[in-house]
Amino acid sequence: MTYQSTRIMDLLKEATAEPHRDAERRRLQSELVRGRLPAETYARWLGQMFLLHRALWKEIERRRAEHPPLDEIVRDEGLHVENLRADLALFGIDGDEVAPLASTQRAIRSIDLTSRADPLSLLGYNYVLEGSMNGNRFIARALENGLEVPAITYLDPYGDEQRPVWQEYRERMNAAGFDEAQGDRMVAGAKEMFRFVAEMSEELLPETVRA
Ligand code: HEM
Repeated sequence: MTYQSTRIMDLLKEATAEPHRDAERRRLQSELVRGRLPAETYARWLGQMFLLHRALWKEIERRRAEHPPLDEIVRDEGLHVENLRADLALFGIDGDEVAPLASTQRAIRSIDLTSRADPLSLLGYNYVLEGSMNGNRFIARALENGLEVPAITYLDPYGDEQRPVWQEYRERMNAAGFDEAQGDRMVAGAKEMFRFVAEMSEELLPETVRA
């Protein structure tokens, strides 16, 4: 069965509503959005996001010629890799030297496996990272005055174009006509990516501070 034109994005949103609420409630995210995260922890978080985006972008680039929907839907998400690299450089960190946390290693391994077994499901991961730009703008506003360096390029890549860019992304996904099985696998990938980001948040800033 092929979904109606709006279906895949509605499905992804509906299926990940709970993981999204969970992500928002994480201590790391709530401290970020309140502008209270120490700069050092923020820089460590950027480092892990750099590794995640770099791994995903590398696999999308590798597969896009053979899998047309990847090419039609994903435009230039490599932009996030470069923005992260630049933000890290403002903290004096070389992205290529960042060591992955255990959760980041698991995420990278899954990206790798999915890329080999089911390349279109990379779009489930990409949905989560691209969609997170919606909330990242709020985080950028919360952080911009508190940081000593303007390392918020990653969080606000599109400026006032954020909504139209997201709307166009939604339209491209909905127009691709994925079948139900592919949609289900993408949803599984999206849930998995939310889980990895939650685990990464927990590793960087535990939910409960132990005595
Ligand atoms: C403090 C943390 C966060 C806040 C305040 C926040 C806020 C938002 C907001 C306002 C939207 C737009 C909702 C809409 O217009 O319908 C959104 C969408 C989204 N966010 Fe977040 N978010 C946060 C964390 C995250 C995280 C950590 C991720 C994943 C890594 C994430 C992934 C997404 C996705 C995938 C969407 C698109 C939903 C859709 O329309 O399909 N968010 N977020």
